[in-house]
Amino acid sequence: MKDKTLQYIKSSPPNSQIEKILHKITKPTYVLEISKLRYNLEILDYVQKNTGAKILLALKGFAFWSSFDLVSKYLSGITASGIYEARLGFEEFKKYNKDSQIAVFSPAFSKKEILELLPISNHIIFNSINQLEMFYPLLNGYDIDIGLRVNPLYSEVSPAIYNPCIDGSRLGMIPSEFKKGLHLLSKVSGIHFHTHCEQNSDALQRTLIHFKKHFGEYIKDMKWVNFGGGHHITRNDYDIDLLIKIINDFRDEFGGIDVYLEPGEAVGWQTGSLVGEVRDIITNKYKIAITNLSAAAHMPDCLEMPYIPQIRGAKIINLESIDNDFSYRLGAPSCLAGDVIGDYEFDKELKIGDKIIIEDMIHYTIVKNNTFNGIPLPDLAILKENGDFEIVREFGYDDYKYRNG
Ligand SMILES: Cc1ncc(COP(=O)(O)O)c(C=O)c1O
Repeated sequence: MKDKTLQYIKSSPPNSQIEKILHKITKPTYVLEISKLRYNLEILDYVQKNTGAKILLALKGFAFWSSFDLVSKYLSGITASGIYEARLGFEEFKKYNKDSQIAVFSPAFSKKEILELLPISNHIIFNSINQLEMFYPLLNGYDIDIGLRVNPLYSEVSPAIYNPCIDGSRLGMIPSEFKKGLHLLSKVSGIHFHTHCEQNSDALQRTLIHFKKHFGEYIKDMKWVNFGGGHHITRNDYDIDLLIKIINDFRDEFGGIDVYLEPGEAVGWQTGSLVGEVRDIITNKYKIAITNLSAAAHMPDCLEMPYIPQIRGAKIINLESIDNDFSYRLGAPSCLAGDVIGDYEFDKELKIGDKIIIEDMIHYTIVKNNTFNGIPLPDLAILKENGDFEIVREFGYDDYKYRNG
């Protein structure tokens, strides 16, 4: 069969089917819609097919492994932040595709972690020459590529909490530190940088200028370069043609070198929702709907980034300027005064028991959630392409209890 064109893939983005199964949801639940996940995977695979680059799923952003039978049909492997993610990739991704790559980067590995990684990983990426020096002898006899993470001294990311190139960053070697390990470069097969967050391909284009300026002379001795994550490839306005050109030009310039990308967010982007409900409506200056969902426990990026998530059937407003019959502040059943999801104008009056569908809640949510205040963890569910709805994991009191003693 002929490969699909990008225009063809993008011509039919799947609609959400969640409203059809809403009556089946009785507790807070993250719902992953498989048709939407497949749509993203087809776009990512298009990039792979048109560049020869390998795209690895960053488990830190999306580790919903009940979907890995599908994800592993498209992506080339996973990238892990340590032993647990590497194990998950090995157990639940590689089992569907034995050729999948398991790459691991940590700012500092322990010896115990390295020993555990030896039988399950393909790329181990070190953050310092110290770590390289300490651990490369342990890798002898294993078919594992060693990589080094560098800091190209350039990143356009804000806020600073997400910028790996801020002054004093511990993430990646600055050029002068990298040079201290030149005598060990024959042990090294790849260079890795990660400097993006939710960015378009023009940011990569600008970043590569700095990467090549500082590390270009070493690339010819490498098997691969890993461009990290943060490439928002599946977002509607992402310039995929430019990304393809950038990768192909880079590969041409460096003798066909392998290129890796490791997005997390772009895999889980817009693939599902968090469903909860209104528990009470009170008034203090504004109408305040208290829900069974918590920004702090279930969507921590809303407070960390910070950002206000979209809610189906509502628009984000500022209650200072719009305060009418259908406008509400949505908050959590927690003690934290700032545990507010946002201010919204709904298209109808809210009632106790109404369902709330918070959009785009599959990446960087489940992997980060917690049981602050003893608030239950939402269940995990999958909405299949044929309309079947399956709760794949239910959480309960024990999940709270045994994290605490
Ligand atoms: C080293 C590394 N690789 C990949 C990623 C994935 O980034 P994203 O989910 O934004 O694509 C991150 C995110 O922080 C990262 O630190």
